[in-house]
Amino acid sequence: MRIIRAKDYDEMSRRAANILAAQMIMKPNCVLGLATGSTPIGTYAQLVEWYNRGDLDFSEVTTVNLDEYKGLPRENDQSYYYFMNDNLFHKVNVRPERTFLPNGMEPDSDKACKEYDQIIAGTGGVDLQLLGLGHNGHIGFNEPGAAFEAGTNCVDLTESTIKANQRFFASMDEVPKQAYTMGIGTIMRAKKILVVVSGEDKAEIVKKAFFGPITPQVPASVLQLHGDVTIVADEAALSLI
Ligand code: F6R
Repeated sequence: MRIIRAKDYDEMSRRAANILAAQMIMKPNCVLGLATGSTPIGTYAQLVEWYNRGDLDFSEVTTVNLDEYKGLPRENDQSYYYFMNDNLFHKVNVRPERTFLPNGMEPDSDKACKEYDQIIAGTGGVDLQLLGLGHNGHIGFNEPGAAFEAGTNCVDLTESTIKANQRFFASMDEVPKQAYTMGIGTIMRAKKILVVVSGEDKAEIVKKAFFGPITPQVPASVLQLHGDVTIVADEAALSLI
């Protein structure tokens, strides 16, 4: 496990973008596993900047995202599909048909999960998986207690997540109660993993996940068992180690 210490969020974003860019340059037809959330926004912005300068080419890249809300149309600005278009896909020359997220509008969970696992397998496997880190150690939507070997699965969102999301929706009915997520087993099969973490509020979980015991109660702790993990974190997130 390699830890890259960045001064602040901007440097973290640049360092993480460097690793993704290196992957694309070394293997133009690579498969990138991507994440949403606030942490990677700066990383995507940096990739867009380098693309605009002519230094990056996404034309042969395939992307597979970690997760998507179940039942949320793609046009909804809270969907992860919308997020990815907004932050990256619409700003670079990635081919839309080579960008994949779980199909949130498939009501049959088994079907949606099986299809997504097939899509991932069909890409030949993820070369580099980008991950953010939840405050409770979740990766993707794999919350504490999630099975380490799982493939794509449908998760019930916790009451606190549903409540926190409420402010983004017009009514409680619209707030997603479930999500599809790549499982921990799928994440662990990526050839390389890149974790981005920022902020003092993540310091405790960084210590627990990467320096504590490996346990399903801290899903990210499983990454200690992966042979090629790079953590890019700012000083605040590393303040307890
Ligand atoms: C996003 C995802 C989540 C986030 C995590 C951290 O696709 O799967 O696991 O990476 O919740 O989120 P932020 O970056 O907002 O702190």
